Amino acid sequence: MKDAANPTIYLKDYTPPSWLVEDVHLTFRLSPKATRVVSRVRFVPNAAVSDRSFFLEGEELSLIWARIDGQEVTPDITPQGLSCDVPEGPFTWEAEVEISPATNTALEGLYMSNGMYSTQCEAQGFRKITYYPDRPDVMAPFTVRIESDLPVLLSNGNKGDTGEGFAEWHDPWPKPAYLFALVAGELVNLPGDFTTRSGNKVELNIWVRPGDEDKCDFALEALKKSMVWDEEVYGREYDLDIFNIVAVDDFNMGAMENKGLNIFNSSAVLANARTATDANFERIEAIIAHEYFHNWTGNRITCRDWFQLCLKEGLTVFRDAQFTADMRSEPVKRISDVLDLRGRQFREDGGPLAHPVRPESFQEINNFYTATVYEKGAEVIGMLKRLVGDDAYARALDLYFDRHDGQACTIEDWLKVFQDATGRDLSQFKRWYSQAGTPKVVMSEAWQGDQFSVTLKQVLPATPGQSDKKPQVIPFAIGLLDRTGQEVVPTTLLELVEEEQTFTFNGLEARPVASPLRGFSAPVILERETSKADQVFLLAHDTDPFNRWEAGRQLAKSALMEMIGNGAPPDADYLDALRQLVTDDTLDPAFRALCMGLPSEDDLAQSFADMGRTPDPQAIWEGREVMRAAMAEVLSSDLMPLYDRHLVRAPYRPDAEQSGKRSLNNALLSLITRRDGGAVAQGQFADAGNMTQQMGALSALLANDLGSLELASFAEQWAHERLVMDKWFMIQVAHARPDLAAQVADALTQRPDFAMTNPNRFRAVFGALAMNQAGFHHDSGAGYRLMADWLIKLDPVNPQTTARMCSAFQTWRRYDADRQGMIRDELLRISALKGLSRDTGEMVGRILGD
Ligand code: BES
Ligand code: ZN
Repeated sequence: MKDAANPTIYLKDYTPPSWLVEDVHLTFRLSPKATRVVSRVRFVPNAAVSDRSFFLEGEELSLIWARIDGQEVTPDITPQGLSCDVPEGPFTWEAEVEISPATNTALEGLYMSNGMYSTQCEAQGFRKITYYPDRPDVMAPFTVRIESDLPVLLSNGNKGDTGEGFAEWHDPWPKPAYLFALVAGELVNLPGDFTTRSGNKVELNIWVRPGDEDKCDFALEALKKSMVWDEEVYGREYDLDIFNIVAVDDFNMGAMENKGLNIFNSSAVLANARTATDANFERIEAIIAHEYFHNWTGNRITCRDWFQLCLKEGLTVFRDAQFTADMRSEPVKRISDVLDLRGRQFREDGGPLAHPVRPESFQEINNFYTATVYEKGAEVIGMLKRLVGDDAYARALDLYFDRHDGQACTIEDWLKVFQDATGRDLSQFKRWYSQAGTPKVVMSEAWQGDQFSVTLKQVLPATPGQSDKKPQVIPFAIGLLDRTGQEVVPTTLLELVEEEQTFTFNGLEARPVASPLRGFSAPVILERETSKADQVFLLAHDTDPFNRWEAGRQLAKSALMEMIGNGAPPDADYLDALRQLVTDDTLDPAFRALCMGLPSEDDLAQSFADMGRTPDPQAIWEGREVMRAAMAEVLSSDLMPLYDRHLVRAPYRPDAEQSGKRSLNNALLSLITRRDGGAVAQGQFADAGNMTQQMGALSALLANDLGSLELASFAEQWAHERLVMDKWFMIQVAHARPDLAAQVADALTQRPDFAMTNPNRFRAVFGALAMNQAGFHHDSGAGYRLMADWLIKLDPVNPQTTARMCSAFQTWRRYDADRQGMIRDELLRISALKGLSRDTGEMVGRILGD
């Protein structure tokens, strides 16, 4: 798309900065609509560059004055920034600007939320605070002075002077502007401390609004666990005297790793047993760890430019997944991650928004904080580790930290470290960073004499702007089992590097059963001719827990496809195998709960599309309902005994053990409710001592068209708790019948407690609508219309959240002509808007395929 106001930025055009920054002093005089920011920045020429032109990014700023070496100057100002004649050698830039935090609803830069000041600078928000080289390869130490009557005044780094109406902070570690943060407000803290292994004592704080003090304990413990883990596993210590975490109600993302001052969406930090579910606790633990781990992978070593985003995000997601696997259950974490990868990343990779893990161009970088950069980026690191081995991975990471501490790096730097640590040529592996699309691996097997051979062929799909792709390196873990379930060949890593290769196993007594792609060793779609009997066998016997789950999932999927596509009855063999597994008390309850999950409506829709058939959202919805009824039937006599056996009577703990039991019980409860008219669920709702049970019961009731009384009493009980009310908004849309979903969502938006300025509330309604596939794609078009109406309303208020929500439409090409027509009309209606944001304009353009 060509657009003069929204130029496309290309990786290939990268040029190093002309000027570097030696240090920065910022003074903030806070005032809701007229905050003054005074900056003093010491610039030095970058000796590596001959161009000496001087440009500072700056948006929506009123410049009061500017000086160079004490002399007033008059820069040329555009909506993007300013340029100015400057001396040849080092000089000091000073400026004062005025900004208006109270009217900043985009939640980027300095803004107000519920009476407190807060910042969000990644990726390009610092330019809305003052004029500055707002690019990650310009790193400097910051000194900050905040002037305000508010009691709590925070910024990055260590504490400096404080007194009546002001506080100073100094961050000694050079950092890019995107890691700057400031918070001011009437906050209270849960204090704590941590002593690093070399003996430095660190002050810890979780800062929240008064009233939320009772929801901080878990986050503080998670932070301490993360600090220990990074020391033990990666040898990384914390490097300041203080680490602050602040909860903010209005926040576009989950959380942000600002140096020494992490800022969190309150949904990603606040939790107690009564208000948060087990899933919330687990997510909080992971996000606290993620942002903390960025201190090394992101902050000490940062990105040269935004195309390198996966350098910090892919690696940090990989690290937080390792942490969660260590804290909880490795197979359960792996299965959940693969569910998420397939549900979000494969979906992205298979449609108009597909892009490489390292994109090559963008208009708005905020649109590239994607499942591909994050989740596929993490998978790529997992593959690298699998290929070089754990020891070599550890050596490479040590070298990475040694070599690049204090630098702004690229994927080339990252791969070079692995090449140098292992001697391995990674030029072919690098294609994972540049070729978009999910590879398909077609597997066939042969048995002859005592020889079992496996032929693997990789097929790389065309994606927007990329057609001729070259073979990638695909680590393919495989194990072979005999008919009794014994491993005759333990997990072995095959390396598929050609388009097609055959691998042979000799000396086998009988034809084995293959367990391929163990642990999901590469983010690919495996296509394989296999018998139902083998899948049933693997579901019962596979020694790889991931593949055991995967066998069940494949069986469920084939059964559902037969039901929906060809009117077959629910598959008795699958149901029988499932029953065996669910009733096997030697297995982890969390694992059994995952096995009871069915492929999502979206997953099934995509599978029909892959077969060249147009998915029918209503039929898919009905098929899953019929399958659930059949599950309830087959398990009928087991449901209550299982449920009783897994009731937790001990005091609530959000750990893996208890949450596993609760998740199994909630899965059982939804089946029980199908059969008993809601009695057990009503009981669980009434007695619930924690939010996991309360929500589990409410959800089981709503899924069966019951629960209106419970819904009302829930709203009354929790009217004063924003995060709990988000759940209330969400669950009604999620469980609304297909023909009512848009209506339910519409009615919720009319309530006085619906506010589109709060991203959590907006996502509760519209994220749930997008997830309710049969409702969103209802043939009336009401779902499409409502979504577009609200994206149009939200865009001028909060472009970033609007743009993200546009991805609801990304699968539109798989549907029938009527639906495609309706969606196209809505997308065109959005794109025709006057003053449409760059964020949303780019997303709609890409989805339409301009
Ligand atoms: N650096 C990001 C936050 C961010 C994203 C800021 C986009 C600006 C634009 C942060 O480290 C992050 O990745 N947060 C995730 C959660 C994480 C556990 C994957 C988020 O906010 O969803
Ligand atoms: Zn991150």
